[in-house]
Amino acid sequence: MKKVLVVHGPNLDLLGQREQAIYGPATLADINQQLTDLAGENGLTLSFLQSNHEGDIVDAIGRTRADGTAAVLINPAAYTHTSVAIRDAVAAAAIPVVEVHLSNIAAREEFRHKSLIAPVSQGQISGFGPQSYLLGLRAIIALLAA
Ligand code: DQA
Repeated sequence: MKKVLVVHGPNLDLLGQREQAIYGPATLADINQQLTDLAGENGLTLSFLQSNHEGDIVDAIGRTRADGTAAVLINPAAYTHTSVAIRDAVAAAAIPVVEVHLSNIAAREEFRHKSLIAPVSQGQISGFGPQSYLLGLRAIIALLAA
């Protein structure tokens, strides 16, 4: 079975409590359950990382070189806009990486308009709430089937 790594960046552990007007009521556990269901229907296994630490995310992406992971689904959260280290890790990855955001980052503050990750990822899905993750996983399913 193909393995997909799902990475949730900083403060996403607070989903469901945090700025609900922007991020909605779903918790990270809710989103992970929906992803697990979709993965199961499509013969994929998921592993999950939520981290508030940039280096942990860099390490997890780096490990995909050796551990047989087939693709990465990532919401880099605030690191989207700041992290050269995560960008470089994505650029170095030998597998597809799909970037997702719950909110529409293009419609928010100017500092959120730029993603350092988008130019080195396979593509970006932004603005559909938890559906962004599911659409991102569907993109990965199609990429891996192609
Ligand atoms: C986010 C958007 C980022 O700008 C923000 O820092 C987040 C969440 C989203 O999913 O909409 O923490 O990645």
